[in-house]
Amino acid sequence: MTSGMEDIVAADSAITWIDGTHGELRYRGYPIEELAENLSFEAVAYLLWNGELPGREELDRLRHELDEVRVARADVINQVRQVPATAHPLDVLRVVVSSDATTNPLTWDNTTDANRRKAIEFTAWFPTVVAAQHRLAAGQEPLLPTPGLDTAAAFLTMLYGHDPSPQQVRTLDTSLILHADHELNASTFAARVTIATQSNLHAAIASALGTLSGPRHGGASERVVAMLEEIGTPDNAESWTISRLTQKQRIMGFGHRVYRTVDPRSRQLRAMAERLLQGTPHQPWIAILDVVAEVMQREKNLYPNVDLYAALVNHELGVQPAFYSAVFAISRITGWTAHAMEQLDGRMIRPTAQYIGPSLRHVPESVGV
Ligand SMILES: CC(C)(COP(=O)(O)OP(=O)(O)OC[C@H]1O[C@@H](n2cnc3c(N)ncnc32)[C@H](O)[C@@H]1OP(=O)(O)O)[C@@H](O)C(=O)NCCC(=O)NCCS
Repeated sequence: MTSGMEDIVAADSAITWIDGTHGELRYRGYPIEELAENLSFEAVAYLLWNGELPGREELDRLRHELDEVRVARADVINQVRQVPATAHPLDVLRVVVSSDATTNPLTWDNTTDANRRKAIEFTAWFPTVVAAQHRLAAGQEPLLPTPGLDTAAAFLTMLYGHDPSPQQVRTLDTSLILHADHELNASTFAARVTIATQSNLHAAIASALGTLSGPRHGGASERVVAMLEEIGTPDNAESWTISRLTQKQRIMGFGHRVYRTVDPRSRQLRAMAERLLQGTPHQPWIAILDVVAEVMQREKNLYPNVDLYAALVNHELGVQPAFYSAVFAISRITGWTAHAMEQLDGRMIRPTAQYIGPSLRHVPESVGV
């Protein structure tokens, strides 16, 4: 079996640094903890796209542009209405991205200015698409974006149909920062492979969305709540975990290709989830996951990854499980676009395969169509 490209260096990148042994993560040199504590998602998006933190004026300009595009592109709601509300939300985002590719005058313009503009456009309207489908799936009418709001507040307002609390906005904002980039994860790699052919940003993002949807990537988070409901109480958690491992089943939200210790984002999200769940009927979920985590570490040396506690945070924000990876995409679109723009200057990505098929043989004359 091949390595799944483990430890292969497939790109030079100045965007994200990970130390998987010590559980450290930095965007453009800044520790994720400092970014999550002190910045807004918009400031982090600026950092990922431009390499430096924004000044006040630059940040205001980006916020204004995102807001302006979000309000101007409310037409994406019509496209969400055209597809079944029961479709997977990442498939719906992919439909809207591909549809936009057919009409956006900048689609095939790979200049830096055009790609920056498209990165802002995706980041502006992804929340509208996800919120619209979430409401349609619940039998509610989609809502137009409210002008003057940043990404987290705009999304929650469209989702709820009323103002979110400042705590809800800050919670989502922090979660968006934590999910914004993660080096050459599978979906980012897919985006880089796609744009390395000199295709375009829309094609790269469609590839990334498809890749994110699998249960070994963003799709893991969607399955965490069902797992918690199945376990039920902390007392059941150890035997449940052991029985799953004995059956060689994977436990969602655990394990990582790069981290050999706790994923630093998971540490932050666990603290956020613990605060949110306190005093709610779901408070025991933290204790359940603590037991599962202890068994996973003891039996398999595997640790919680970003998807585990993100599921709890999304749940407490009122997001339906099927939409967790789409909320992930609302954030990761910043990392995908930053990487795709960086890759444009690089070589085409074209690895080789070790051939394990039959050796030379010839079509018999008797076989013909
Ligand atoms: C993320 C993930 C795909 C990375 O895995 P990877 O580096 O490719 O490692 P492999 O899939 O080769 O797994 C290596 C071993 O660990 C086991 N393993 C990995 N993650 C596991 C999990 N979550 N539960 C149980 N066993 C797991 C595999 O079964 C395999 O065991 P084996 O050697 O006995 O066959 C993997 O940990 C996983 O499937 N996790 C669950 C899904 C998830 O949470 N994804 C979100 C990632 S952020």
